[in-house]
Amino acid sequence: MIKKIYKRLNSTNIKARQLLDKGEINDSVWIQAEDQYSGKGLGENIWESEQGKNITGSLVIFPASVSAENQFDLSIVTSLAVCDLLELFLGEVKIKWPNDIYVGTKKIAGLLVEHTLMGQEIKHSVLGIGLNINQETFQESIPNPISLKQLLGIEIDLEEVTDLLLNCLSLRLDQLEAGQAELMRGDYLNKLFRYREYAPYKAHNKWFRARIVGISKFGQLILETEKGEHLEFGFKEVEFIDD
Ligand code: BTN
Repeated sequence: MIKKIYKRLNSTNIKARQLLDKGEINDSVWIQAEDQYSGKGLGENIWESEQGKNITGSLVIFPASVSAENQFDLSIVTSLAVCDLLELFLGEVKIKWPNDIYVGTKKIAGLLVEHTLMGQEIKHSVLGIGLNINQETFQESIPNPISLKQLLGIEIDLEEVTDLLLNCLSLRLDQLEAGQAELMRGDYLNKLFRYREYAPYKAHNKWFRARIVGISKFGQLILETEKGEHLEFGFKEVEFIDD
């Protein structure tokens, strides 16, 4: 896989988009920043990463076999690839919907998956991955961060772990290409934080207990209340409350 490594960038997702807009990318490429100084998260979130310590990169792909309506499958692929990588080092990791990666109650990675659509097709996708590797202190405003070094107590070779991540991504993309989307949707559900467990949530300023019973085709969270009612939520429409 072609890699473009930059010393300093605002955001690898933004850089990817700029290169795509200029027509400078027409095959898969991994864009990585040693120092990403203005990382983007989902919605208004920011992504903090200390220079030279972590993986901050975006894989640009041209997913010819995925239709626009199945775009959430690419979020699933990216989440599972990051879990596959982490499980080479750690015990079980979880996906907190939609695509935060958690070890216990701490967030180790965040994903920002963006698509450009053309009718019913996906023209290209940018799979942005922020994975904390060797960082040991984080800004106070960042909720529950953790890095691989903090968990393992050893410094990790960033280049080696990046190559492993790219392998995990290739394998999961091949699996999607091979028509195994349904299987991966099942893997994703089984890795979901709080899947099928009753827990508190908040939506429209109301607190309620419910359990996750599924994810819609479009990636909406499906909750079942204690009365058996099914509710669907998009990102930012529902909040996970600590139990
Ligand atoms: C989130 O937690 O809300 C998602 C964070 C995504 C961060 C990654 S780092 C590489 C890529 N470039 C960005 O600007 N964001 C993603």
